[in-house]
Amino acid sequence: MSNYSSLDVISSLCKRRGFIFHSSEIYGGIPGFWDYGPLGCEMKRNIKEDWWKTIVRNREDVEGLDATIIMHPNIWKASGHLDTFSDPMTMCKSCQKLMRSDQIWDMFADSDAGQTLQKLLDESNGEVGKLFAWCKGRAKGQTPNLPAVQEPAVLTVAYEKLLENPAAYSDLKSLYTLFANAGRADGSEICPCPHCGGELTEPRPFNLMFKTVVGPIDNEKNVAYLRPETAQAIFAQFLNVLATSRQSVPFGIAQIGKSFRNEVTPRNYTFRSREFEQMELEYFIRPDEAVELISGKVLTLADNPDLTTPDPAWGWEVWHRYWVEQRKIWLTACGLPPGSFVESVHASDELAHYARACVDIEYSFPFGIQELEGIAARSDFDLTQHQKHSGKCMEVFDEPLKLAAKEMDDQARTRFMEKVVAEWLAHNKDEGDARAFVAKLFEGRYIPHVIEPSAGVDRMMLALLCNAYEEQKLVDEKGKEDTRVVMHLNPRIAPIKVAVFPLLKNKPELFNRAREIFEHLRRRYAAFWDHSGAIGRRYRRQDEVGTPWCVTVDFDTLENGTVTVRDRDTMEQQRMTLDELKAMMDEALLV
Ligand code: GAP
Repeated sequence: MSNYSSLDVISSLCKRRGFIFHSSEIYGGIPGFWDYGPLGCEMKRNIKEDWWKTIVRNREDVEGLDATIIMHPNIWKASGHLDTFSDPMTMCKSCQKLMRSDQIWDMFADSDAGQTLQKLLDESNGEVGKLFAWCKGRAKGQTPNLPAVQEPAVLTVAYEKLLENPAAYSDLKSLYTLFANAGRADGSEICPCPHCGGELTEPRPFNLMFKTVVGPIDNEKNVAYLRPETAQAIFAQFLNVLATSRQSVPFGIAQIGKSFRNEVTPRNYTFRSREFEQMELEYFIRPDEAVELISGKVLTLADNPDLTTPDPAWGWEVWHRYWVEQRKIWLTACGLPPGSFVESVHASDELAHYARACVDIEYSFPFGIQELEGIAARSDFDLTQHQKHSGKCMEVFDEPLKLAAKEMDDQARTRFMEKVVAEWLAHNKDEGDARAFVAKLFEGRYIPHVIEPSAGVDRMMLALLCNAYEEQKLVDEKGKEDTRVVMHLNPRIAPIKVAVFPLLKNKPELFNRAREIFEHLRRRYAAFWDHSGAIGRRYRRQDEVGTPWCVTVDFDTLENGTVTVRDRDTMEQQRMTLDELKAMMDEALLV
């Protein structure tokens, strides 16, 4: 559906129509922070409510939580964030700019210099003269600190190397690296700054958590952190929710809320922000060994299980896949076509410190295919860590497990114990830990494992905006060409559900009846009133912000109570009563 040309088109519409503004814009803005305007905050709220309804209210096995942003700092020690939640950061020795060292080449490709050089490469056909000319000309303004730009001797060596083997420098990275390093006699290489061509420092880890101080005394003892994910509050409140909710494993705890990350280089509009919102579910499941004791088997994906209905015999692998499928169903229900997102399975060396497996759902944003949300299998890592650091027992008691173990004879228990020990040893785990774990299982106790679908509200909103945008070329009855900008937002997500127009504003009877209808509808739906300008212009204003239905009140309305309802996508108009309109809207808006 979408035919956007760039992120600029989306961001300019968002600014113009009140979806998204730069935070603190009157002071020049602050990088990585965004404000949601009148329409943006409605749309964002709709995304969150849709998620909440789908994940919490429509399920009997998920409870909600709304925890604080600042929590006890030990939480971040236990979770590993204090020690490992960092990005590799580097600084340019010439222009002093800081950047993530794993994003240097993306940044260069996006820069003026990168784009100029890429164009020259594309046009060069093996001819190196223009590349040489760039160093002597435009590069002086674009990357003034690049050694080949500053020192003629370096440029000469680079030129000779280029002439000798142009194929070796036919991509942006090798060419720019050559211009930086051609003069180095010892063969060592520096990575050039994507902004100015200067030399970058060695990367070092930079912790992404925002620090603050709790209370009036500003010292190390009072340091606290703004949460970098909502998940940890769920683990920290696990025992309270379990005790008060009458749930038992498997069950989930969900939370929506702000998270903060001091991103080294916030980029791509709202995609990577420093303050953003997450919608996270921690779904607690039995360890596979407990499943085996209760069900006599552990279903894996190889068993081709029916993923629509949870089964007590599902192992973690099936639960993980189940949640990937559930998330895809929701993304589609919100309006993202199934073909617009892809799954990316993390290789074992890409997994976060806590994860056993992770699937990212990626969306094709205008700046490339990037992560929309992630579904991780976190094992019992988090609850175990919190048990260790807080001293509070995070085990659950599982009645069916205790009963299953009670029914086993001594031989069966020994066989089970030895099997688990052998499996743990094969995974380089401790034998003593394996025996203690199985002994607890026989008592019906364990620390639950967890599957975590974790989504970003802002990223979801950006994906929906990009997907919805369309510029349609229209020709009217007189043959006049026109462009209609329309946002095909799913009605569930659209900020305004219905706009109400009186056909004429200077006919009091029409105006007043339209006002009555508007007042009636707005009690139920986000509604918008517009009485100014030609009807066609009023339709267009609503198309551009994705309003699915426009209602026009005319003289027939006064006669028979029907209104004209114009559909945003088809532009077709239908006459119907208010009851029919409400029934149609309710059906489309039902989550
Ligand atoms: N609890 C797991 C966790 O936080 P993550 O992959 O770091 O995992 C989950 O984040 C989701 O949060 C991402 O898929 C993305 O949608 C969103 N997210 C993460 N960092 C973000 C940022 N800097 N700006 C906007 N959204 C972000």
